[in-house]
Amino acid sequence: MEYNLRNDISSELFTEEVIRQKVQEMGKCISKDYYGKELVVVGVLKGSVVFTSDLIKYITIPCELDFMAVSSYGKSTQTSGVVRILKDLDNDIEGKHVLIVEDIVDTGITLSYLLDYLKARKAASIEIVSLLNKQARRKADLNVKYIGFDVPDEFIVGYGIDYAEKYRNLPFIGILKREVYEK
Ligand code: IMP
Ligand code: MG
Repeated sequence: MEYNLRNDISSELFTEEVIRQKVQEMGKCISKDYYGKELVVVGVLKGSVVFTSDLIKYITIPCELDFMAVSSYGKSTQTSGVVRILKDLDNDIEGKHVLIVEDIVDTGITLSYLLDYLKARKAASIEIVSLLNKQARRKADLNVKYIGFDVPDEFIVGYGIDYAEKYRNLPFIGILKREVYEK
């Protein structure tokens, strides 16, 4: 039989339809809050690619799109605390309102590092939107302006979020079976 990625999921947390509705709601809210402002949406590669591309379709005001890439967990499920910038912004953000798009905030270490890194660029404002929030594991003091869903302290995959670069293409969000990463 053909291998199905869904077999590795212990439970589905958010269906495609539930995600779509939430992303639409967030897009509306952002469009209202940033009305009349020069908005730059910054996706953090690669995890937020699916969320970012869906979100911008629901933003009805003009906005720029840029991407950054930072080092991630690699193949481990634990954050190393070491963050490296693999790809910087293409365009200048001086005087603009930056909205960083993240897939999931866990310890918050990645984003607090990123915020510090971008601070010197003289943006008018820098805020964060994250589809998922794993509050239980937060270590850094981080203000996330928009949060889609809170998730339990489990390993989450799908809708762009990976385990060892896999499962990003699942259209829904679910919990990865422990036996997959504990073997
Ligand atoms: P933080 O620095 O601990 O907040 O980690 C943030 C990054 O770790 C996220 O952008 C994800 O790429 C990754 N991450 C955190 N939790 C999970 C998870 O449950 N599944 C997959 N990736 C995760
Ligand atoms: Mg990420």
